[in-house]
Order: sequence, then structure tokens, then C-alpha cells
Amino acid sequence: MTILVTGGAGYIGSHCVRQLIAAGQKVCVIDNLSRGHREAVPPQASFFQIDLLDTEQLTDIMKSQRIEKVIHFAALAYVGESVENPLPYYSNNTAGTISLLRAMRQSRVSQIVFSSSCATYGIPASIPVTEDSPQTPINPYGWSKLFIEQMLIDCAHSYPNFGFIGLRYFNVAGCTHDGALGEDHNPETHLIPNCLKTALGQQSQMTILGNDYPTADGTCIRDYIHVDDICAAHLLALDALTPEAQRFYNIGLGHGYSVLEVIKTAERVTGCEIPIEYHPRRPGDPPVLAASNEKISRELGWSPRYTSLEEIIRSAWNWFQTHPHGYEHKTGSHTGNEPKDHS
Ligand SMILES: NC(=O)c1ccc[n+]([C@@H]2O[C@H](COP(=O)([O-])OP(=O)(O)OC[C@H]3O[C@@H](n4cnc5c(N)ncnc54)[C@H](O)[C@@H]3O)[C@@H](O)[C@H]2O)c1
Repeated sequence: MTILVTGGAGYIGSHCVRQLIAAGQKVCVIDNLSRGHREAVPPQASFFQIDLLDTEQLTDIMKSQRIEKVIHFAALAYVGESVENPLPYYSNNTAGTISLLRAMRQSRVSQIVFSSSCATYGIPASIPVTEDSPQTPINPYGWSKLFIEQMLIDCAHSYPNFGFIGLRYFNVAGCTHDGALGEDHNPETHLIPNCLKTALGQQSQMTILGNDYPTADGTCIRDYIHVDDICAAHLLALDALTPEAQRFYNIGLGHGYSVLEVIKTAERVTGCEIPIEYHPRRPGDPPVLAASNEKISRELGWSPRYTSLEEIIRSAWNWFQTHPHGYEHKTGSHTGNEPKDHS
């Protein structure tokens, strides 16, 4: 059986490819490298640099590589960028998934694990967030993912043998413990890598958006889950994927840490001072986000191995110390990863 991994050259996708190979699976990666890194794909996986929107090539690859199941990570994933420029999010993420689903139908591949997000919940009414909480996204990124969830439900209703499992991740963090793979986004918008870049002196300070939230220290609380625990959930989901599967699961630790706690822990791990500047709140940021992971624990037997924030940050620090400029040092102001508007 060969597993097709879309976005397998990205942060989470590359960690998952590594786990699949370690588990003895044959893996085929497709990625347009708009935000991924060819170096992150291990040589044991076959690799095709193509875009999700190229249905014809996707179909050819699925047939020639004898794909049986798909894990679909490929997406644009910056919330702020999606607000500034929504159309690439709908064309790349939502229309890109229509193209992938068409290619799957044309090559008789009918099972898929999909990377969804806690962004589909918007501002949750209660914490911890369960899978049946109302889904009202507050940005185009969240909507682009929710539309895909609905397409999967509709496909499962209409196409015989179509099965899916959608995994709604909370805040993914950390890196493989040997430091071989890591998080290399440009620009980086996530808290932990930005703390570590500040510790390395690559930026002068951390900006905290709001210290007047109704939390113990006034800063927002988020649920950080180690990338290897996310990937372990994908392997369990692959096993549980049947033609009848129509399921969604949250993946998170089940509790959160405040922005200030993350920064203080990063200071302890790195031994460096991380200067802070407070700015006003950003509209739409909920004070607390944390997943209920009760459903995935009960139904798939998943539980997180990395339960301490310090451990998660230490694993990321291994990567940043050995790869301070990521997989490659890109020079010049144009990063080459600006989203293309295919619409
Ligand atoms: N990182 C998080 O905390 C987080 C949280 C929730 C959900 N997710 C979801 O997990 C998935 C992976 O996230 P990540 O952090 O690894 O992102 P990433 O940007 O590191 O990886 C995404 C990969 O998809 C590729 N890609 C994007 N559009 C493509 C297209 N049209 N055709 C082919 N390849 C394309 C990129 O080149 C990149 O390698 C995404 O779907 C994201 O929405 C991530």
C-alpha cells in the first residue's frame, strides 16, 4: 500500500512522512514547494513537485504510484495573510482540495485523512472545545478548512466507499528529537519558534498582543501539542480509515499555557533572556483555547507522549541551534513564497 502525502515537504507533513517510513509504509509526496523544503523529504519517499490544482498530473501520479490512501496536509496556513488576501486561501485550500478529490475519484482512491484546524471553531462558547461545538470561523483560513470539511461529508454521502477522517489540530509545536527536521516558515508566525529566534538574537524582542485578558497573568492561553504526537494520530487515523469512516477529531493536550508561560519556559530552556513588549489586543483573539481530546483517546486510543511544555520547547530548540537559518539560507527581500492567486 502506498500513502500519498500532500504537503509532505512542509513542517507537519515532513514529520509525518518520517513516521510513516519508520512504520514500514511506502510513501509518495506531492508538494509545490511554495512553502515547503525539498530537503525535508527523506530519500525513501518518492517526490513530485506539483500543485494540488493540477488534477491531471495528480491523477497520473495516483495511478502510477498505486496510491491507496491520502493524507492531505497541503494548504496555505497563515491566519493574518488570509484576512489580508482571502482569495488564494479559497483557491489553494478549498479549490485545491476539490482538484485532489477529483483526482482521487478518477483513480479510484477513496480514503483520506484531512488536516483541519481549531480555526474552524472561531471563538468557542466553552472550553475545552469538543468536536460538536458550533463551527463559526472568524477568518478566511478557518472558512477554507470548514468548506473542505463539508465537502468531505457530502462526498461520503454521495460516493460509495468514500471514507474520511478529519483531524482538527490546535497549536502544533516542537520538532523531532534528533533535530533532523524542524519548523522553517517564512515569515514565522508561531509563538515558540519566534521565542527561539529571539533567543538566538535574530529578532530583538517578542511582542505580546494584550496583557489584560481574564487569565491568571493577563495573556492568552493556547493548547500546544507536539508535532510527533500529531503525526502519531495520523498513523492511528490511517488504520481506522474504512470506506464507512466519517469522523472528526480534535488533537490537543487538553489544557493550555499562557503566552507569558511559554516565553518564560523558553528562557529557561535556552538560558537566554527574551525581551518582551506589550501591544494592545488583536481583535478576535479568544482569551483561552484548549481542545477536549477525549473522543480521539476513546475511539483511536491516542494519547500525547509529550505532555510538558519544557519538553516541547527543548525539542524545537535542538532544531534551531543546529539550523539557525532553517533548511537553507534565503537571501533578498523576496521570499518566493508569496501566495499565488489562481482564481
Ligand atoms: N502548524 C499548525 O499549528 C497547524 C494548526 C492547525 C492546522 N494546521 C494544518 O496542517 C497542515 C500543515 O501545516 P504546516 O504548519 O505543516 O504548514 P506548512 O506551510 O509548513 O506546510 C504546507 C505544505 O503544503 C505545500 N502546499 C501549499 N499549497 C500547495 C499546493 N497548492 N499544492 C501543493 N503543495 C502545496 C507547501 O509548499 C508546504 O510544504 C495545513 O493544512 C495547516 O492548515 C497546521
